[in-house]
Amino acid sequence: MRTERVRRRAVLGGALVTSAAAGLGGMSISQTSATERAEPSRHPDRKVALITGTSSGFGWLTSLTLARAGHHVFASMRYPRTTNAGPARELREFAKAERLALDVIDIDVRDDHSVEYGVAQVLRHAGRIDILVNNAGIYYPALVETQTMADIRDMFETNLFGHLRMNRAVLPTMREQREGLIVQITSGLGRLVLPFMASYAGPKFALEAMTEVTRYELSTFGVDVVIVEPARYNTDFIDPNGIAYYRRYLRRLAPEDARRREEYGELAERLTPFLQELPEAPDNQEVADAVASIVRMPSQERPVRLLTPGQDHLVELNDLTEQVMRQRMEAAGFGDLL
Ligand SMILES: NC(=O)c1ccc[n+]([C@@H]2O[C@H](COP(=O)([O-])OP(=O)(O)OC[C@H]3O[C@@H](n4cnc5c(N)ncnc54)[C@H](OP(=O)(O)O)[C@@H]3O)[C@@H](O)[C@H]2O)c1
Repeated sequence: MRTERVRRRAVLGGALVTSAAAGLGGMSISQTSATERAEPSRHPDRKVALITGTSSGFGWLTSLTLARAGHHVFASMRYPRTTNAGPARELREFAKAERLALDVIDIDVRDDHSVEYGVAQVLRHAGRIDILVNNAGIYYPALVETQTMADIRDMFETNLFGHLRMNRAVLPTMREQREGLIVQITSGLGRLVLPFMASYAGPKFALEAMTEVTRYELSTFGVDVVIVEPARYNTDFIDPNGIAYYRRYLRRLAPEDARRREEYGELAERLTPFLQELPEAPDNQEVADAVASIVRMPSQERPVRLLTPGQDHLVELNDLTEQVMRQRMEAAGFGDLL
């Protein structure tokens, strides 16, 4: 669900903050480079941003939002010439109409070669990478006992390894630049769990942990790492994507696993609400604006975590974690990395 309505409230740590209305926001890079189209002199603070999973939802909106704020955006998606040709074309049309520096490129975050090739393409055309927004993700609810090891690995492959693969590809450049920003989209389900969410929350919990460690390890290189924990939104995440992944899981359910499922009785049916969109969902643009607000913050002053509106239940947990982490890092002799 793509909307351009803008809501400007974001929750930062424990406090409500107002994020500026930055309008912000690929194929391969076209013959007419986006850099040429967008008159670089108009944007002295232009950054080069690479975003994953931009065929829909937050990724699509964040691509436009950052490009409208004057940045050069490489909106990456898988299958931009086939399955995702529609959203790729729409992004290019916006770029052309608004003279934005926005290129669509092909990256499948599950594929080493695709990630390396995509990042090399950005470097070849822009010469640097200032911002990586790790956004791509997949979801479906299921009783964890009924998921095969292959099912669970599949969820980790996109939702955890995909992001780590992207980080490995961009970090040598960012460290060499001694400047950079990684925005990691996780979830409230990276901090708290619900039934049927094991194979989604598992990689998101791991992602939270690995992202936070990455932040500390990069702190001496001038590279910032920030976690964004969105609330629930009606993007394409559930309908149609989550529903399609759920149907695929049902189709592939072996008789043995179908039996396991039946043995859970009525509980097995209680996942239905997790396949339904919210009747009144917040504006998807909130997440793009949250990312844009992080981009605008001064380097080295960015928070560990940023919540979108509607995540107030996580404020206390995050504040307490941060407090305890500070103590533990200092006690372990790593206070200088905070
Ligand atoms: N919507 C929510 O309520 C919510 C809440 C908390 C966190 N999040 C997180 O927000 C992020 C974005 O989700 P969304 O809500 O915007 O959902 P979405 O509309 O389904 O977008 C997810 C994007 O990820 C892409 N993707 C999936 N596998 C990929 C791969 N292997 N390589 C490259 N791209 C891939 C999808 O592309 P294809 O079309 O090619 O599959 C799609 O563009 C996800 O990490 C999700 O976990 C969402």
